[in-house]
Amino acid sequence: MLEHRLPQIDRGLNNVDELGLYLHLPFCRQICPYCPYNKTLYRPELAERYRRAVLTEIDLYADVVGDRPVSSFYIGGGTPTTMLSHGLGTILKHIHDTFNMRCSIHMESHPNDLTDDALSMLVDLGVEHLSIGVEALQDHHLRALRRPYTVEQVTETLQRAVARPFRCVNADMMFALPGQTVSEVAQTGSMLVDLGVDQIAAYPVFTFPHTTWGQTNGSATPGHLEVLRRRRMLSSLESLLYNTGFRRTSVWAFTRDQVPAYCSVTVPLYLGLGASGGSYLRDVFYLNTFSVPAYIRSLERGQLPIALTVELSEKMQMAGWLYWRLYETHFRKSAFPERFGVPFDHEYGRLMRVLSALGLARVDDERVELTDTGAYWLHVFQDFFSIDGVGRIWAEAMDTPWPRQAVL
Ligand SMILES: C[S@@+](CC[C@H](N)C(=O)[O-])C[C@H]1O[C@@H](n2cnc3c(N)ncnc32)[C@H](O)[C@@H]1O
Ligand code: SF4
Repeated sequence: MLEHRLPQIDRGLNNVDELGLYLHLPFCRQICPYCPYNKTLYRPELAERYRRAVLTEIDLYADVVGDRPVSSFYIGGGTPTTMLSHGLGTILKHIHDTFNMRCSIHMESHPNDLTDDALSMLVDLGVEHLSIGVEALQDHHLRALRRPYTVEQVTETLQRAVARPFRCVNADMMFALPGQTVSEVAQTGSMLVDLGVDQIAAYPVFTFPHTTWGQTNGSATPGHLEVLRRRRMLSSLESLLYNTGFRRTSVWAFTRDQVPAYCSVTVPLYLGLGASGGSYLRDVFYLNTFSVPAYIRSLERGQLPIALTVELSEKMQMAGWLYWRLYETHFRKSAFPERFGVPFDHEYGRLMRVLSALGLARVDDERVELTDTGAYWLHVFQDFFSIDGVGRIWAEAMDTPWPRQAVL
């Protein structure tokens, strides 16, 4: 069936010679009380219908994407490993049969899914960059987070994973947990380094209004004291990791020298598949419906499940570009005219001089690099923005499968 939205997507893909792909697999075996992501409990029959819907969505994009090289592929969730023995293989095969895949796979996983067999399957499927949600390495914090494993169990899982031929094993950890001390944060970081993980992504815990924690404890943005506590925790991780051969590869992540970073989609323009998958195609950003049943029903009718569209002016595209490059903490100015046809300094020279004067960035004729202080303030800003702004949009999108502002 010819979709009425495809011509606009086709236009968005005009002159795009390199594309990223994001695939959202929304199933989890349990729902964690702090988690803001779009997820639902795993049920085999729902996962099977979801698998078929994703295959249809891939087919709908086949012609417009054509043979453009896909140079970045990220599978996020939810917990993608819930579908490891239940459909992930066929989805990946269909992606490789349909698109011109020129990249390895980066994928999220839950420690409890990573048995020996599961790790072998991941390697066989071509996952080269694996992320594991560790979160903390003190049993009392794991209990408070309702994580279904002990420190001993997750340690064994990490040992098994780093022994496999992944190019990068990332461990997620959260800090600024209720009652957590700076030394507990440093202890978790140091244990992860000793266990041999290649990357540590350390997130200060956000309390989003639509989560169980947000509903029971409220979701105030951090006050001054809390901001200082978080700064001390992050500083302790920075000194530990810089002294043990890690470099900063994004606002949150530190990667061992010489190891390619585990990261989400790395190219500026990308296509998102799955419920809540987002696509950014030059002058349009759109989001699939968050509702898993609505996503499935839409594709069963042969229609793309797009729920919300934002047309982006040139200035918005430039601002989005700058935000993501700052998020990666360093970039070449010459990449900007390659994309927009105007010199970087022409648009952002003054802003860079201010960031440099405030000690937030190091700027020369060709390169911009965020300092540790700059990275910290970007994440304070992100805290504020994501809880107050994105949190509300997210909550709305989760409640309403087809928001009224849908434009396409
Ligand atoms: C999709 S989850 C990880 C994969 C898997 N579902 C799991 O839980 O192990 C992505 C990561 O986001 C982080 N995260 C989740 N909720 C968070 C919150 N409220 N604040 C900060 N980080 C959070 C956690 O570190 C988590 O590992
Ligand atoms: S933290 Fe991971 S396992 Fe827990 S609900 Fe979120 S996505 Fe699912």
